[in-house]
Amino acid sequence: MPRQLHLNAFLMNTGHHEASWRLPESDPYAHVELDHYIRLARIAERGTFDSLFLADGPQLWGNIAQRPAGALEPLTLLTALATATQHIGLIATASTSYNSPYNLARKFASPDIISGGRAGWNIVTTAGAEAARNFGLDAEPAHAERYARAAEFLDVALKLWDSWEDDAIVADKAAGVWGDDSKIHPPRHKGTYFSVEGALNVPRSPQGYPLLVQAGSSEDGKAFAARYAEAVFTAQQTLADAQAFYADLKSRTKATGRDPEHIKVLPGIVPVIGSTEAEARANEQVLEDHIVHRHGVANLERLLQLPGRTLELDGQLPSDLPPEDAIEGAKSRYTLIVELARRERLTVRQLIGRLGGGRGHLTFAGTPEQVADAIETWFTQGAADGFNIMPAVLPSGLETFVDQVVPILRARGLLRTEYGSRRTLRERYGLPRPANQHVTTTPALASV
Ligand SMILES: Cc1cc2nc3c(=O)[nH]c(=O)nc-3n(C[C@H](O)[C@H](O)[C@H](O)COP(=O)(O)O)c2cc1C
Repeated sequence: MPRQLHLNAFLMNTGHHEASWRLPESDPYAHVELDHYIRLARIAERGTFDSLFLADGPQLWGNIAQRPAGALEPLTLLTALATATQHIGLIATASTSYNSPYNLARKFASPDIISGGRAGWNIVTTAGAEAARNFGLDAEPAHAERYARAAEFLDVALKLWDSWEDDAIVADKAAGVWGDDSKIHPPRHKGTYFSVEGALNVPRSPQGYPLLVQAGSSEDGKAFAARYAEAVFTAQQTLADAQAFYADLKSRTKATGRDPEHIKVLPGIVPVIGSTEAEARANEQVLEDHIVHRHGVANLERLLQLPGRTLELDGQLPSDLPPEDAIEGAKSRYTLIVELARRERLTVRQLIGRLGGGRGHLTFAGTPEQVADAIETWFTQGAADGFNIMPAVLPSGLETFVDQVVPILRARGLLRTEYGSRRTLRERYGLPRPANQHVTTTPALASV
């Protein structure tokens, strides 16, 4: 089987562009409408995407004057979408800093069962003091501590998902034996952050556990991904940076004793498509013209940790910004934005324009062929195993991508034309079903 792209549809209310909700075509209330998401899921399924993805944080994100805010809880929404779709994977974000492993392991095992093995977990440590203050803390835990807690969280969650062997249910009516107690393995975990005694209260799910996805690109983030993640979402602005990230992550994964093929790297891309290059650029300009710059300035001042200082809209970023080491929030995104501004000598106004589409993810305006070329280049030049497709405007941007770019990728043999016999999300990503840590052989999926 030739290597093929993995595509994930990163869904965000009316689109990733911060001004998308202001376009005449957009419904500013769509962010909490189930029908909107069902429509998006079905378009992505028509494009034979591997999965859908929803971001999340346990706080009201951003500035509600700027764009639609507040969202449906991702696991709840994805479970509803599981019943409206047949094939596509369903990846929900949940934080290891503001959840406990027992509850969360159960919450992910349930949709994996309901969807027939299509659930995935985007594991995040959650940057920012706003979330911390919603959970009895005055400030966010230090970056290194958030990742230390994340590692123990995963160890406990894996013990919980493995606490049922695949064949623990025997349902022997004649003998009057429903389950085999010898196949239940309580974690009896006592660690730094968690104590968890008993087995999970959900049987083992079709995939064993959800696909494990990670989305932080700092040193600690990459170390964590190399150990646990099966797919990684990342923001990369240049081919060279993406190649360096890809090579680094694959070699770190190998160093942990894992097969580097078993971690799929998916950079984000915000495609803005037009039938000519000029039309694509004009579409991009329409979006940029709808940006309200005062919101962008406030966002940048917060992200760059500049309390009490005002950024000049037509000036450059200050030269005395703190180094990444001094950042306790989202380290890799901080560095990406500062490097982007400095590399291209952008004014604050231009930087806000560049971030408006994808908050640091690569925005690419072009014809369907040019978008397909960019995707093919990154895929074949060691920068990506696939992409997080982040349409600037939804649903139209996803529809255009599926109707106009997907056929080109298929014609080039880079993308599947149908889902075929692979049923689970992990199978779609070409990954093996994980073994249960308590058994030496993994039963075939069919016997689960
Ligand atoms: C595609 C993508 C999606 C992300 N989604 C979320 C999210 O939903 N919630 C969240 O708290 N962080 C999210 N993040 C941010 C990271 O998980 C992480 O918090 C951030 O990149 C900082 O990690 P780092 O310090 O290791 O770079 C996302 C990052 C990427 C690249």
